[in-house]
Amino acid sequence: MRRSSRLLESTALLVISILCLVIIFIKEDIRPKKPSNHFQINRRESTYQNRPQKPTSESAGVSTWGHCERNESAANVSGFSSLPVHIQDFLFYRHCRHFPMLLDVPDKCGDPHKSADVFLLLVIKSSPANYDRREVLRKTWAKERLQNGVWIHRIFLSGTTGTGFEKRKLNKLLRLENREHNDILQWDFNDSFFNLTLKQILFLEWMDKNCRQARFLLNGDDDIFANTDNIVDYLQSLKDNDGDKHLFAGHLIRYVGPIRESGSKYYVPVQVQESDSYPPYCGGGGFLLSGNTAMVIYKMTHTIPILPIDDVYMGMCLEKAGLGPESHFGVRTAGLHVPSQNVDTFDPCYYREIILVHRFLPHQIYIMWHGIHEPNLKCSNSQGSL
Ligand SMILES: *[C@@H]1O[C@H](CO)[C@@H](O)[C@H](O)[C@H]1NC(C)=O
Ligand SMILES: *[C@@H]1O[C@H](CO)[C@@H](O)[C@H](O)[C@H]1NC(C)=O
Ligand SMILES: *[C@@H]1O[C@H](CO)[C@@H](O)[C@H](O)[C@H]1NC(C)=O
Ligand SMILES: *[C@@H]1O[C@H](CO)[C@@H](O)[C@H](O)[C@H]1NC(C)=O
Repeated sequence: MRRSSRLLESTALLVISILCLVIIFIKEDIRPKKPSNHFQINRRESTYQNRPQKPTSESAGVSTWGHCERNESAANVSGFSSLPVHIQDFLFYRHCRHFPMLLDVPDKCGDPHKSADVFLLLVIKSSPANYDRREVLRKTWAKERLQNGVWIHRIFLSGTTGTGFEKRKLNKLLRLENREHNDILQWDFNDSFFNLTLKQILFLEWMDKNCRQARFLLNGDDDIFANTDNIVDYLQSLKDNDGDKHLFAGHLIRYVGPIRESGSKYYVPVQVQESDSYPPYCGGGGFLLSGNTAMVIYKMTHTIPILPIDDVYMGMCLEKAGLGPESHFGVRTAGLHVPSQNVDTFDPCYYREIILVHRFLPHQIYIMWHGIHEPNLKCSNSQGSL
């Protein structure tokens, strides 16, 4: 009985899926850019990924938020038509803060009531196509492990890129990776540079729900080299802070303001922010913060309009909460200054003492991680004290 009804069920599902596929393909052929397609494709993806392993986990986020409407009156601000397209786009969708969740890992931090010990949560922004970066990070500094008696966990944050086939292909890649590694949060929004703040806010919202117990976080990009051994040492050395007090440390940037040159990647026109100054903040390549501070920032996000530059936005949230970022000497998001031109910039000796450096290629990360763990690594004193 059971068996045959199951069989019937799966057959019906299969038939429905095929029908859906056929409908989607036909519709796409006729009307390539109709927005309603978008919705159907998402639905299909979420039904697929609901099945394999975690029926409960994915019902939470998937498709609970409808489509966020474009704010047409944004086009009424003065000078709108002369703004670059990506900024116009930002203004149209600035108010949108909820997007369907495509991949979730609700059990990453264990049962919230049993306070699983997540000492350090690595929160890494990674767009879908950066498969090679994620793979190398999983094998090197972002490996989930027990380090010096405490647990390091890892999560990647992703949106979507491309449209149509390309988008579906990349979404499938992330699904496959997540099935194997259980380490990806993905939402259905365009994973563009100007949406990084949105990504950050969506993560904080997820953390509020699923991982409040994380003591500390390393929040950063997927092209950094982070010496997570040293980070654990550093965090354990904070005598009076177990993650329950304020900490926000990194490459401190002060006394700067919006770049007003329209050609710059960081261009922020007055239509986006009027004030000519930014609060102090830490460079977004990577910074350390306590779980406590992450939750304070999350609360602040509710009342601060999105600024597209994600690291500055963090600074705004801190300022509003009456807190500040601090400088950590071991964080070099602007790169590492190596004293002479005649030495190897990638000499592991320079990286043993640091905490984090920006802009590494995957193969460089792999070599460096093994380099700093080389038992016979010999360094002179001057090299160790950068
Ligand atoms: C834009 O402004 C014009 C005139 O100032 C007004 O008529 C129109 O309703 C506004 N459009 C929106 C969408 O607010
Ligand atoms: C839409 O844009 C206008 C003009 O910038 C703004 O005043 C209004 O608050 C925006 N609406 C929403 C829902 O964000
Ligand atoms: C995503 O945003 C980028 C940058 O604004 C843009 O070039 C691209 O066309 C967008 N992609 C989609 C699918 O909207
Ligand atoms: C952010 O993502 C949303 C949803 O995909 C998109 O509509 C919007 O254009 C994106 N914004 C930017 C600035 O890329």
